[in-house]
Amino acid sequence: MLAIDLRGKRAFIAGVGDDKGFGWAIAKALREAGAEIIVGCWTPMLKIFTGALAAGKFDESRKLKDGTLLEFAKVYPLDASFDTPQDVPEEIRENKRYKDVGGYTISEVCQSIKQDFGTVDIFIHSLANGPEVQKPLLETSRSGYLQAISSSAYSYVSLVQHLGPIMNQGGAALSLTYIASECVIPGYGGGMSSAKAALESDTRVLAFEAAKRFGIRCNVISAGPFGSRAAKAIGFIDKMIEYTARNSPLGRQIEAEEVANAAAFLSSSLASAITGTVLYVDSGMHAMGVSLDSPAFT
Ligand SMILES: NC(=O)c1ccc[n+]([C@@H]2O[C@H](COP(=O)([O-])OP(=O)(O)OC[C@H]3O[C@@H](n4cnc5c(N)ncnc54)[C@H](O)[C@@H]3O)[C@@H](O)[C@H]2O)c1
Repeated sequence: MLAIDLRGKRAFIAGVGDDKGFGWAIAKALREAGAEIIVGCWTPMLKIFTGALAAGKFDESRKLKDGTLLEFAKVYPLDASFDTPQDVPEEIRENKRYKDVGGYTISEVCQSIKQDFGTVDIFIHSLANGPEVQKPLLETSRSGYLQAISSSAYSYVSLVQHLGPIMNQGGAALSLTYIASECVIPGYGGGMSSAKAALESDTRVLAFEAAKRFGIRCNVISAGPFGSRAAKAIGFIDKMIEYTARNSPLGRQIEAEEVANAAAFLSSSLASAITGTVLYVDSGMHAMGVSLDSPAFT
């Protein structure tokens, strides 16, 4: 039987803050395949996430197929908008959700992972943030645009830079994008469409550079709309899910587990010749040139 076997591998998943998003689903799939899981949780969410985890609030969704519970070998605080402590502005450093937490910048987290675990085989980037996502591009400020790019795209470049030296040969890096990078999705604003376009382009360049320097592969999954916490904050996710169900070749919305299974495959040696690719897990929506539910067809 051909199986995805990640036994003996260690995965760092950046962007797990509850049990509702892709990061959580990917953690489960990689664990099911045998990998050890460490995660990076956005600093302001850390106490809420670790508190809920310890209180057993996620126990139902922690259940794996063999009946055991998903375990995290370690949860690191992470703010992927900052590379070094010197980059953190005073008002953030002094914020009550940051003040008592140390070592959350990208360089510090990667240094801690090196000290705690030595090496990593799999890196998953499952985070994005655009403070002005609800604003059309024509109303987006320079600062909002640059923050979207910084948190959602450069964070991947920086994490590959810093994790690369401790990634084992044959390792795999993966991020998550959205079709708004290449087609107009009204409502996905604030420079987030630009950030996703950058993320996809950077994946191709890093596939080349990081293969040469670290011996790792870099891919990105373009996921269909899914009702995670981040997506709900954008405000029109239910409409996008319904649109996919009505107009995609498969005629249904996607499940987080389907993205997670694709992530497990891309992270495994079964995908050993796949790098620099965008893999669509979107019920085939990207392939459509017309909307089936358009009044023009009735
Ligand atoms: N949900 C969708 O419809 C959809 C579709 C395509 C792609 N994606 C992408 O999937 C990825 C995961 O998103 P999701 O939808 O599962 O939502 P999610 O809310 O589960 O994940 C986003 C995570 O990013 C974290 N985060 C935000 N800013 C951060 C920062 N500066 N540093 C560290 N962490 C930070 C949040 O705390 C959260 O845990 C994102 O890249 C998103 O753009 C989502």
